[in-house]
Amino acid sequence: MTKLTELLGIKYPIIQGGMAWISESTLVSAVSNAGGAGVIGTGGGDPEWVREEIMKTRKMTDKPFGVNVVLMDPNKDRLIELICELKVDFVTLGAGNPLPYLKPLQEAGIKVIPVVPNLKLAKRMEENGADGIIIEGMEAGGHIGNQTTMALMTNIIPRITGIPVIVAGGIVTGRALAAVLLMGGAGVQMGSRFLLARECQVHPNVKEKIIGATDTDSVVTGFSRNFGVRGLRNKFTDEYLALETAGASFEVLSKLAAGRSRVSAVEGDMENGSVQVGQSLVPLNKIKSVREIIEEIVGEANEALASAARIIIQ
Ligand SMILES: Cc1cc2nc3c(=O)[nH]c(=O)nc-3n(C[C@H](O)[C@H](O)[C@H](O)COP(=O)(O)O)c2cc1C
Repeated sequence: MTKLTELLGIKYPIIQGGMAWISESTLVSAVSNAGGAGVIGTGGGDPEWVREEIMKTRKMTDKPFGVNVVLMDPNKDRLIELICELKVDFVTLGAGNPLPYLKPLQEAGIKVIPVVPNLKLAKRMEENGADGIIIEGMEAGGHIGNQTTMALMTNIIPRITGIPVIVAGGIVTGRALAAVLLMGGAGVQMGSRFLLARECQVHPNVKEKIIGATDTDSVVTGFSRNFGVRGLRNKFTDEYLALETAGASFEVLSKLAAGRSRVSAVEGDMENGSVQVGQSLVPLNKIKSVREIIEEIVGEANEALASAARIIIQ
């Protein structure tokens, strides 16, 4: 039992992070049915598609699940309205200012868990009544901030005592979950690990490319413009980074990157798409069911926690 399992009414302290173009009803319901909490990724999706995915997920699980809203999405207001209408269990909010959305969502009975990049915003979220926060280190796949998971845990966890702090970024094993719990975190959010789930509907080329990747294969595009995105190195990232190094404007780079995650996740183009995945790549070597992934992580975490008591430094 952790503050996260209590907050969401779930068995294991594991959230599957929202992933635009990827985390839909099949994956989300499988995660929730296996004892974690699945999250529908709405980024780039039409609100009607989101409505259908919420309804489909409800048919496939009676367990809690969430919806992720990317706050730079032009559809964000319609999505928030839809979520309030359908009263999903919880919402994760990233890439923008979550404050204006806290009260309306909570008044509709929805728990709100913003993704925060630093201590200042973490404190502001706690003061304003957020139900929990997610801190996401730059080891993560997708859009990233500029602090590592270890630095975020060190800086933030001891100072946020009233609400659960969920940790993301580079966590793909049970030992990492155990480490987060020992650091005082309430649980983890994982994205990359679930890309290799059998139930994950991402294009099979993405799964194959991740299985073939090693620790040094991810790169970050856009970091110098405060718009970092981590994914596997390919033709697209080489072109982007060459332009970025040459000093191309934010507009030129944004235009080059627009729509690229769909190109990889849906169309399966491994050279021209943005193949977003985190840095902890070596253990990602096999496709397994969501249940196998979660059971394996929980088993390994419990083993690590049990043996931790024997590691006493004298
Ligand atoms: C392919 C991919 C797509 C993602 N899309 C989103 C998104 O749409 N919204 C969001 O808040 N986070 C997104 N993320 C971040 C995840 O929700 C999660 O926080 C992150 O994957 C955790 O780090 P990990 O990749 O090392 O597990 C994405 C991550 C990946 C790998």
